[in-house]
Amino acid sequence: MTSPAHGAKNANFMKALVYHGPNSLALENRPRPVILEATDAIVQITTTTICGTDLRILEGAVPTVAGGRILGHEGVGIVDEAGSGVLGFRRGDKVLVSLITSCGKCRFCKKAMYSHCSTGGWLLGNSIDGTQAEYVRVPHADAGLYLLPPGVDEEAAVMLSCILPTGLECGALSGRVKPGDVVAIIGAGPVGLAALLTAQLYSPAEVVVVDIDDNRLEAARAFGATTVVNSADGNAAERVMLLTQNAGVDVAVEAVGLPATFDLCQAIIAPGGRIANAGVHGKPVSLHLERLWASNITLTTRLVDGATTPMLLKMVQSGRLNAKQLVSHRFGLPEIIKAYDTFANAAREHALKVVIRNARPDA
Ligand SMILES: NC(=O)c1ccc[n+]([C@@H]2O[C@H](COP(=O)([O-])OP(=O)(O)OC[C@H]3O[C@@H](n4cnc5c(N)ncnc54)[C@H](O)[C@@H]3O)[C@@H](O)[C@H]2O)c1
Ligand SMILES: [Zn+2]
Ligand SMILES: [Zn+2]
Repeated sequence: MTSPAHGAKNANFMKALVYHGPNSLALENRPRPVILEATDAIVQITTTTICGTDLRILEGAVPTVAGGRILGHEGVGIVDEAGSGVLGFRRGDKVLVSLITSCGKCRFCKKAMYSHCSTGGWLLGNSIDGTQAEYVRVPHADAGLYLLPPGVDEEAAVMLSCILPTGLECGALSGRVKPGDVVAIIGAGPVGLAALLTAQLYSPAEVVVVDIDDNRLEAARAFGATTVVNSADGNAAERVMLLTQNAGVDVAVEAVGLPATFDLCQAIIAPGGRIANAGVHGKPVSLHLERLWASNITLTTRLVDGATTPMLLKMVQSGRLNAKQLVSHRFGLPEIIKAYDTFANAAREHALKVVIRNARPDA
């Protein structure tokens, strides 16, 4: 690959964060994306962020991501070019980019399982280049983009690309949180916190949040957790059972992606309870049917579909959902490696979600 001539402003190149295999990232000059299909749009990214899934990729736990891939599946930006088949968007529109690409027509899309779209799914920053760059190509743009409603802040909106729909769909909705339920959320990262914020829409009686990071547990308390448990001592199951008078919890949301945290969900689930797995797992877990076979439990797994994104946007717009409170740090795109370091060392850095801004050259 050739770099743009030194000092020359080359419109064909852009800055992008490139994955080169486990624990290897670089901010590089890459060719700007171009329209490949009539239904594509090119979006100039103004705000992006880093997901726990990006950290799982860096650990080498997501084998679908090849070396050379531009990472990122979250973004807000401005439509730079819309393909001739894009009906709902035009150059200059300010948009939210969903992590999920969907055609709207295939048998999975017809069942609202957009994450399994036969020509889409989670592509951005996975099997195609993503949003941690100055520009991104968004396939099936009519379904994957949302016009930013007036008054919706970019930092709040970028929380809706992935984590808020994930917390809601893979956590609260898959776990079928009902009024009066006792809910445990394992993991107080952005996804666990998003599950916490959205579970409260269904009026649970109690929400216990478990993590090993006291700063994130403090955030969980501020966001409405009734109890927080630091599980670093390995006694979280006993403590949650004690808190529930040995009844266990009605809903356990797994929002980490480790065998130990999945085990914890199985140890604390009440008869009739629901374990909603949101975490991306890179290793096998044990399913303890020798204990749970008679417990009438439901186990759900899900890749976020983004089906709730329009609803979440309305809630952010109306002020009913404070998405921006998830942001703890802000960086410019040239500092994105530092942003990764901050997010990967969240306990040390007191980080929740780190936002990366990319100034528009003409802004
Ligand atoms: N299913 C989906 O569609 C989907 C979408 C987005 C993210 N995810 C996944 O959700 C998970 C959470 O994402 P995130 O952005 O919040 O990630 P994150 O890495 O920021 O947060 C994970 C949290 O887990 C905590 N943790 C680590 N080990 C623990 C342990 N042993 N016990 C208790 N807590 C522990 C960490 O302190 C951290 O706060 C990741 O696995 C991510 O890949 C899934
Ligand atoms: Zn994500
Ligand atoms: Zn489809």
